[in-house]
Amino acid sequence: MRVITSVRAMKAAASRLKDAGRTIGLVPTMGYLHRGHLSLVRASKRAADVTVVSIFVNPAQFGPREDLKAYPRDLERDARLLRGEGADILFHPRPGDMYPTGYKTYVEVHELQNKLCGVSRPIHFRGVCTVVLKLFHIVRPDRAFFGQKDAQQAVILRRMVRDLDLDVRVDVRPIVREPDGLALSSRNAYLSPEERRAALVLTRSLKEAKISVSRGERRASAVLARLRARIAAEPPARLDYAAVVDPEELEPLKRIDRRALVALAVFIGRTRLIDNVTVRPGKKESPDKEKAR
Ligand code: PAJ
Repeated sequence: MRVITSVRAMKAAASRLKDAGRTIGLVPTMGYLHRGHLSLVRASKRAADVTVVSIFVNPAQFGPREDLKAYPRDLERDARLLRGEGADILFHPRPGDMYPTGYKTYVEVHELQNKLCGVSRPIHFRGVCTVVLKLFHIVRPDRAFFGQKDAQQAVILRRMVRDLDLDVRVDVRPIVREPDGLALSSRNAYLSPEERRAALVLTRSLKEAKISVSRGERRASAVLARLRARIAAEPPARLDYAAVVDPEELEPLKRIDRRALVALAVFIGRTRLIDNVTVRPGKKESPDKEKAR
């Protein structure tokens, strides 16, 4: 695996690969890799000739009071995991190379960026879109891989690709979970053992929502009321938001009479965790369907 740390060297490597007719798969990450990230690497390995994994803790997507400094980092371990998966290039640029002094250009996907997580994280998605568009230009991928764990991010990036006529195919892969159901996240590292137990309330409340829809519940308000009550009953947990929305437009739904996304963000102590499930009316689904494959 080649490790590239400058934008210029990555662009040169991408140009050579494109000239040689190789297809490039890109897996953008902020590192501290877990099996969720590695599932994306595997998907890329299957779909493209060359797999580039970027590790960049992107300052532009963190608010002033968020965890940019504390965000967990372990490049050596990440590189070892990526070698084990057979990734071809690890792109690990420096912040000053991605955002040199005087940097002023940002990309926004209006409306979609202000909903759900965008309410409590107002600059988050413009930071995500900006860095991902930059990565697309630097790495020139044919395909890019993202996780359904960050459902809103996936919707917004798909829209950016469509609106800006980018020649990248966006692939969104299922959520990878711990055996007890907790969605893998680099931020799970912040949780104390007691918080780790309490964090299961995200999985459990979403599972319950999915089951109640499969049993015929159509009122989003009823699904949300049960979900809120469950979270209120778990003291270190504090709800940021819970919503039942259209999976493309992220608009709240009153009735669940088609495919819908149930998404939530919950503070467990000081750690903000997100999770989601897709529900479909009248279709009995195994709640474990989205488990690790
Ligand atoms: P990060 O949180 O490191 O996640 C990188 C990718 O891994 C994202 O596409 C995310 O959805 C996916 N992922 C995270 N946990 C997952 C899980 N449990 N199962 C499946 N996929 C999972 O998301 C970001 O970084 C950044 O916003 C980024 C896109 C890199 C832009 O900075």
